[in-house]
Amino acid sequence: MPYITTKNILTYARDNKIAHGAFNVNMPCQAEAIIEACEEIRCAAIIQVAEPGLAFIGGRVDFLNGTLEEKKLGAKRIAKFVKERANKSSIPVSLHLDHGRSFESCKAVIDAGFNSVMIDGSALSYEENVKLTKKVVNYAHKHGVSVEAELGVLAGVEDHVFATNSTYTNPLLVVDFFNKTKCDSLALSYGTKHGAVKGDNVVLRKEIVIASMENMRHAEIDGTLVSHGSSMVPQYIVNEINNLGGAVKGHGIPLEQLKEVIPAGISKINIDTDIRLAITRNIREYFANNPDKIEGSKIYNLLMEKPEAFEYRYYLKEYNDELQTNKINSSELKEILPLIKKGVKEIVLTASIEFGSVGDANYIK
Ligand code: G3H
Ligand code: 13P
Ligand code: ZN
Repeated sequence: MPYITTKNILTYARDNKIAHGAFNVNMPCQAEAIIEACEEIRCAAIIQVAEPGLAFIGGRVDFLNGTLEEKKLGAKRIAKFVKERANKSSIPVSLHLDHGRSFESCKAVIDAGFNSVMIDGSALSYEENVKLTKKVVNYAHKHGVSVEAELGVLAGVEDHVFATNSTYTNPLLVVDFFNKTKCDSLALSYGTKHGAVKGDNVVLRKEIVIASMENMRHAEIDGTLVSHGSSMVPQYIVNEINNLGGAVKGHGIPLEQLKEVIPAGISKINIDTDIRLAITRNIREYFANNPDKIEGSKIYNLLMEKPEAFEYRYYLKEYNDELQTNKINSSELKEILPLIKKGVKEIVLTASIEFGSVGDANYIK
């Protein structure tokens, strides 16, 4: 099946009132796991990488300090891997840049072979956001690449009270933004938040989704809407990590609320944190069940250093070369790699079933 743009997948989702999970990866084996899971349930796969992830894939273990050159290398590596794998697959696959910060980084991943990008101008003024998004759209559309933009800022989820200085997306501006930029999809700020700590009483403002979609229909805009910061932070996983010596705290977006915004118009639901949690649980469990594997481990001490953390890029950093070239020689990594893939699959399968995307592979044009 082809390597196709996210636009095709999302248009189908919008028209059929389902949503697609979009899953963050930081190494090729995770992209492989997403495709394998989606093949099992005959569902299209959206694989996404944020800029720090590109730097990590490009070999920079302190990924927050990555250079454009390192990100370019990461983009080439992951695009080559995903394209080749997609060509052998029975499902449509797209590869998306998540939270692109500049025109240069969007251009770099398009040149490397990504078929979808996000330009995140949400921290800029409205006019500057429009200007930057337009520039990215001009380049991307010439190369057959779809563009996601963002309007409104994902803020704290506990300030449910509407205020005139709200950072929530203003649905009155959505049509104007689509018309001026010609972007394909738009991430809304409506109460979600990145990370594990979203508050234990999240109330999504689904009215923002409803009003945005209604305005778009009136204006005949063929766009789709996206939900960031949407991990559910399953409490069973948090509890399992903590029963294995962790000290993770967090609450996610309640599934019932995500299910309400899907028919209202959300077509893409971004999930990263849940994957980090599931992988961390699996690796903690491995060491708990195999104490003889602790001595000499290049992972164990880094993992145990911060009980409250679940950043696998930190505790897997000693193996980054092997992980990114996908040439697994170390005996420890040979045992850990299936646990990374299993964690990804647990989340991809759960989300795809809940969001209604199972079985859509053959219907997407
Ligand atoms: O929204 C951003 C994603 O969760 C990616 O995370 O910036 O740590 O790679 P990252
Ligand atoms: P979470 O942190 O809720 O997984 O959100 C991920 C995301 O929005 C990636 O763009
Ligand atoms: Zn995001």
